[in-house]
Amino acid sequence: MFRAWILAASLAACTTQNPEQTEQIKQAAPAAPDVAARTVKTSPDKVANGKRTYEQLCVSCHGENAEGKVGVAPSLASKTYLAAAGDELLIHTIQQGREGTTMPAWGLKVSRFAAEELVAYLRDLNPVERAHLDESPLKADLARGEQVFSNVCSACHGRTGRGYQEAASGTAIRGRAFLSNVTDGFLRYIIKHGKSGTQMKPFRTESKIAVASLTPEDIDSVISYMRKNSH
Ligand code: HEC
Ligand code: HEC
Repeated sequence: MFRAWILAASLAACTTQNPEQTEQIKQAAPAAPDVAARTVKTSPDKVANGKRTYEQLCVSCHGENAEGKVGVAPSLASKTYLAAAGDELLIHTIQQGREGTTMPAWGLKVSRFAAEELVAYLRDLNPVERAHLDESPLKADLARGEQVFSNVCSACHGRTGRGYQEAASGTAIRGRAFLSNVTDGFLRYIIKHGKSGTQMKPFRTESKIAVASLTPEDIDSVISYMRKNSH
């Protein structure tokens, strides 16, 4: 969905010689999509219907109160996740599912309107302000990214990043179905702040509960490594 933008952004990053030319390319490149944006108008009816659909179709995997079940399905109640994931990202994920994982594509069963009701329900359960995502170009070193992935991330997300499919406790973060729908700003935010209420702890250097401290360059590098080694 956002691949065209990613390509344009990386092309823009490669061209630096001629300032005039760089300026033109900068203007030609579309702005990063605002993945944290809120678009769904909510109402008590929508929330009630969303709850009903959730209990029919989602609760078996995502659990009571959408808190997730380790090894089965991730939390949809995490405040940092809900701050960074905008309504269109949630709707797209619900309707398209996550190819290569057990998250079904609900598009035939769950209409756009029903998906909006689900979003209204999830937002009502855990109201949180939207996050401001840093979409500046990555400052990445691929070799460093590979080290970070294998030393830190693979313990929970699996050696190849296939998540539950590798009997790991985290999700499939190297899956294209996931990566093609999130921006670098979204990934930076989640890696830095973690997924609150889950085993995905914050990795920023100043965090006291971090499993490991990662510098902004480590974080950019691992994002770049994941994107180059997606499946
Ligand atoms: C058969 C189990 C199963 C069912 C039923 C299911 N999901 Fe999922 N869902 C998953 C799994 C597994 C993932 C994570 C896949 C991955 O990326 O590794 C997921 C991921 C998601 C995500 C993305 C969360 C994140 O951390 O990025 C959303 C949103 C979501 N599901 C919503 C729903 C909704 C709404 C329903 C009901 C209409 C539903 N799911 C039903 C298994 C399920
Ligand atoms: C201690 C285990 C652990 C480690 C180490 C870990 N993660 Fe996670 N991560 C998880 C879990 C568990 C989840 C899913 C949380 C849930 O159940 O909702 C997750 C979720 C995520 C998500 C959100 C994915 C989505 O579907 O929205 C991203 C992005 C992520 N991790 C990236 C990373 C990166 C990059 C690293 C290495 C720097 C890393 N994680 C290290 C456990 C971990």
